[in-house]
Amino acid sequence: MSERISLLQHLTLAARAGHLDPALVTVVQQIGAASREISAALTRAALAGVLGAVETSNASGETQKKLDVLANDAFLQALSWTGAVAGIASEELDGPYPVPGATGDYLVLLDPLDGSSNIDVNISVGSIFSILRARSGAAGLTDADFLQPGTAQVCAGFTVYGPATVMVLCFGHGVQGFTLDPVSGEFLLTQADIRIPERTSEYAINASNQRWWQPPVQRYIAECMAGKDGPRGRDFNMRWVGSMVGDVYRLLTRGGIFMYPRDTKDASKPGKLRLMYEANPIGYVVEHAGGAASTGYERILDIPPEKVHQRVAVILGSKEEVDTVVAYHRAG
Ligand code: AHG
Ligand code: MN
Ligand code: MN
Ligand code: MN
Repeated sequence: MSERISLLQHLTLAARAGHLDPALVTVVQQIGAASREISAALTRAALAGVLGAVETSNASGETQKKLDVLANDAFLQALSWTGAVAGIASEELDGPYPVPGATGDYLVLLDPLDGSSNIDVNISVGSIFSILRARSGAAGLTDADFLQPGTAQVCAGFTVYGPATVMVLCFGHGVQGFTLDPVSGEFLLTQADIRIPERTSEYAINASNQRWWQPPVQRYIAECMAGKDGPRGRDFNMRWVGSMVGDVYRLLTRGGIFMYPRDTKDASKPGKLRLMYEANPIGYVVEHAGGAASTGYERILDIPPEKVHQRVAVILGSKEEVDTVVAYHRAG
């Protein structure tokens, strides 16, 4: 018996203490089960011939990878039979999926495989989840039930499939990390209270988009690159994984600022990342770990959603740096 507490023990103890709805324990357990299945599928992908893309595209206009579809199916199967989940929205589904016969009112919004452009080159990817409650209950479920601001989330987190598979989980009271033991198949508590350092000297942005950034982002990144001879008075480092969960897990661990800002490359888009199943769940985790999450102009979790797949600008991580970038946006 491992001396570390397992995800199931952690959830069950919280439920017995009256802090957690037992039905939500089931939902999160099943997210863990799907994560475990996806982790195994990723490890064997080349052997099983499931790398590469399929012919179809998703609602964001992205070509789907075979593993995008596999991961999406894994979550649908793991969640649908519980009865606790009234509906599922996903990057890989055009519209929300009402779960037949559900009696519970939880809504799960998913990025089943985040960073899938990295899957064929063996770089860390992840799954992101956000959990809401249907206002009208399971019976009268409509798409509008999913369109709730990030502040309405009852749980959010992600699983990063890296050298280790780690589930990061938040119910609004602190942020915990559970590492998958590949021998036992259990997620074991390895980080009891994740806190993001307020100060950082590490930024994450796709620098190839520099010519399209708006002035506040141009100013901030130029100052980071000027290092100790510039106005920031210290040298900065840059990292860019190409999988949001990879960059976010790093900044949760050692601090950092992650930016996918609005740019003029496609003026019709307010940003690249999706609000409901990337920015909101990650913003919820980052805020509860002591960080901040903004578009540059407003708090991400306050945004009233209009569409399930709507995009948003994302600037999140160490509070001191996010506040600096927000101040530059306010200064114009
Ligand atoms: P997804 O694979 O779920 O579509 O998300 C990819 C996102 C995000 O994970 C990552 O930070 C960003 O796309 C990378 O974008 P670029 O390839 O433009 O750098
Ligand atoms: Mn995608
Ligand atoms: Mn993603
Ligand atoms: Mn994805």
